[in-house]
Amino acid sequence: MSGKFTEVHQRSLDNPEEFWAEAAQLIDWYKKWDRVFDDNDAPFCEWFPGGELNTCFNALDRHVEAGNGDRTALIYDSPITGNKGSFTYSELLKKVSCFAGVLRANGVDKGDRVIIYMPMVPEAVVAMLACARLGAVHSVVFGGFAANELAVRIDDAQPKVIVSASCGIEPGRVIAYKPLLDSAIDLASHKPSCCVILQREQLAATLVMGRDIDWNDSEARAEPTDCVSVLATDPLYILYTSGTTGQPKGVVRDNGGHAVALLWTMKNIYNMEAGEVYWAASDVGWVVGHSYIVYAPLFAGCTTVLFEGKPVGTPDAGVFWRVISEHKVKVLFTAPTAFRAIKKNDPNGSLLKDYDLSSLETLFLAGERLDPDTLHWAEDKLGVPVVDHWWQTETGWSICSNCLGIEQLPIKEGSPTRAVPGWDLRVLDENGNELPAGEIGSLAVKLPLPPGSFPTLWNARERYFESYFKEYEGFYSTADAGIIDKDGYAYIMSRTDDIINVAGHRLSTGAMEEVLSDHPDVAECAVTGVADQLKGQVPLGMLVLNAGSEGNEHEVVKQVVQMVRDRIGPVAAFKQAIVVKRLPKTRSGKILRSTIRKIADGTEWKMPATIDDPVILDEITESLQSIGYAN
Ligand code: COA
Ligand code: AMP
Repeated sequence: MSGKFTEVHQRSLDNPEEFWAEAAQLIDWYKKWDRVFDDNDAPFCEWFPGGELNTCFNALDRHVEAGNGDRTALIYDSPITGNKGSFTYSELLKKVSCFAGVLRANGVDKGDRVIIYMPMVPEAVVAMLACARLGAVHSVVFGGFAANELAVRIDDAQPKVIVSASCGIEPGRVIAYKPLLDSAIDLASHKPSCCVILQREQLAATLVMGRDIDWNDSEARAEPTDCVSVLATDPLYILYTSGTTGQPKGVVRDNGGHAVALLWTMKNIYNMEAGEVYWAASDVGWVVGHSYIVYAPLFAGCTTVLFEGKPVGTPDAGVFWRVISEHKVKVLFTAPTAFRAIKKNDPNGSLLKDYDLSSLETLFLAGERLDPDTLHWAEDKLGVPVVDHWWQTETGWSICSNCLGIEQLPIKEGSPTRAVPGWDLRVLDENGNELPAGEIGSLAVKLPLPPGSFPTLWNARERYFESYFKEYEGFYSTADAGIIDKDGYAYIMSRTDDIINVAGHRLSTGAMEEVLSDHPDVAECAVTGVADQLKGQVPLGMLVLNAGSEGNEHEVVKQVVQMVRDRIGPVAAFKQAIVVKRLPKTRSGKILRSTIRKIADGTEWKMPATIDDPVILDEITESLQSIGYAN
């Protein structure tokens, strides 16, 4: 294939150092790097070693210094509370430097960790940027996780300070965050020295004397604090994501490579210019929120929209159109689930006619497979290009996308287009041999990974190597299976591990199984992700009970559902489990989860050659049919 995109992509692979050094010119550095890239200790690699910068300076201060302080940095739109507001770059800078002063006054210095457990309020963004300003490492924990999950992250990250709020708001209920935070701190072995609590008007929290301080009081007394110079290779944040076990992986992001790569994506992938409005309808607790609600739009001098609401029910399926028209959004980025929810509520898109969507140029979708129905519905109703793009928490930005700022390529249904410049994507067989076009295999990225992708896992250097680089030497293993066609278009088929994707949220079935196994009546269990029309996938548990538990099935199911909600959180959406006599296994004892999934989804499946007892699959099919699956 020829064309501008092919030329840029090839250049990025032929000479990555030159390519990324050029991109790095757009970032403000206190000290230039010694080398663009160092892979002496591959797969542990460093981008821009020796370089010094500050991420917050690049997100805020430099725009103000350039005379753009009056430009809107952040629009807060919260249909769930009825609040709206906006901050110019100057206003946001003032808030961030004051909050950096609060953190500093409470002992936070360069390299210290700060956990942020907050709903979608501007203060969450302020806290993240204040950490970056001090060179402290933030770790944002999504509000839908339970106290136990927060405790695991507290113990791993060992934060000096935790920043939280009195409550989050979900449709129809106010969620008290403070009791969750208190119980997480009780459960954790590590204790933060201070918690800063934002009191929201919907619910006041009781503060713990000597440990908790009120956000507003402390901000009022704070000394504005300046940016601290950090190394390009110093960590900016840790973001925990699901692995195959209950222990989440602490994905680390550096400062330098991250800033360079994310700024590059704003123009080259999303075709955004300074002053334009970008809206990622996600949550700051996910990687999409880190990269595209907070950092990338601000690096680029754009206006970012922080939306506290849902695509439906706050108040209706027209809210996305209202936000686009009211704030003149140029690019919307969300998960396909959000569009499935809107389409289900308003199949004809009749609410669209109430709004002027002329500002919208592109819809970007990611986080899960984009089904053709949703793609076509969105294309048809919005009349703009709908771009599927594929990425992961680990990569921080997209591996495959249509790069609208370089050259718009034709859209092919089912494909997130081609590997983005910086990414050398291949399809490998189980022996690590490259497969020809059109054949399915493991999607792997030939090293080096571009800047912005994760340089390590927090406290888990060995796990970094074992999980991602051991399987195929010289490659990053994405844990997604797929195809690359003859035109270089990738198709993402399924995960090769036990991760599932529920409403665009990445969850570990292994972690859910660990919870189910703790029930005293459960002898064995398996959790698989089964197809769901709205959420893409939802977890389904299968339980084998201990002898003597007969007659108690209904109660056990109810209890395990509650246990997952209490221990992992409502975000797991674990609502169904069935009791079966036996689980299908291979002769070596491995549970055949993917066969269970295919049977449940009613898709084609083959009898595994290694199955121990084929009859079990008949029993499983019957059980699944009894709850409406396997048809
Ligand atoms: N704090 C506390 N609880 C939360 C929460 C938070 N921040 N976020 C979600 N939850 C709860 C929800 O209330 C829900 O609880 P329930 O089981 O009592 O109803 C549960 O976690 C699951 O939440 P969610 O996945 O949001 O499902 P939903 O049924 O409430 O809404 C959609 C369905 C499709 C509208 C919703 O998933 C959505 O907007 N998805 C958009 C995709 C997205 O943002 N993806 C992020 C990656 S890009
Ligand atoms: P997360 O780390 O939460 O971003 O989840 C990453 C996983 O989500 C990937 O490994 C894929 O399995 C899935 N995913 C993300 N984007 C896409 C996409 N565009 N198409 C298909 N799957 C996707």
